Amino acid sequence: MSERTLAIIKPDAVKKQVIGDIIHRYEQAGLRPVAIRMMVMSKATAEGFYAVHRARPFFDSLCAFMSSGPVVVLVLKGDNAIKKHRELMGATDPAKADKGTIRAAHGANIEYNAVHGSDSPDTARVEIAYFFPEMSVVA
Ligand code: RTP
Ligand code: MG
Repeated sequence: MSERTLAIIKPDAVKKQVIGDIIHRYEQAGLRPVAIRMMVMSKATAEGFYAVHRARPFFDSLCAFMSSGPVVVLVLKGDNAIKKHRELMGATDPAKADKGTIRAAHGANIEYNAVHGSDSPDTARVEIAYFFPEMSVVA
């Protein structure tokens, strides 16, 4: 079933100049970008995006990291896109991520882990709407 999912190329990956490599991996896996936006998130925008984690000890540090520089936010579309994207990303901790995944290739540690991906259809819907009005998603 064709689905949409939200991806973020995080500030660490933008700094490492691997935007192209990461988007190439999406396309090679059959995940088609249908919206793309480059931005610097304010701290408040990052806090709203990761609100589900607000009680976690890493919340402040995560929001500081996510607002520390430019990110690329994308909507990806394809069959089984949510699960396929999470597989391409690899485990949250790059040290535990399977070889060949984006986080194994580009993540430095459990926080600076290169990419974000929605984890369910409900979160995908909310996360896409957080960054994109429906008319700016092309398919
Ligand atoms: P994401 O939401 O960014 O796709 O990552 P995820 O589902 O794999 O992991 P999640 O548990 O949702 O955590 C969100 C992000 O918070 C940072 N984190 N830091 N210091 C820590 O122990 C820790 N744990 C998580 C990571 O940047 C993680 O991607
Ligand atoms: Mg998550």
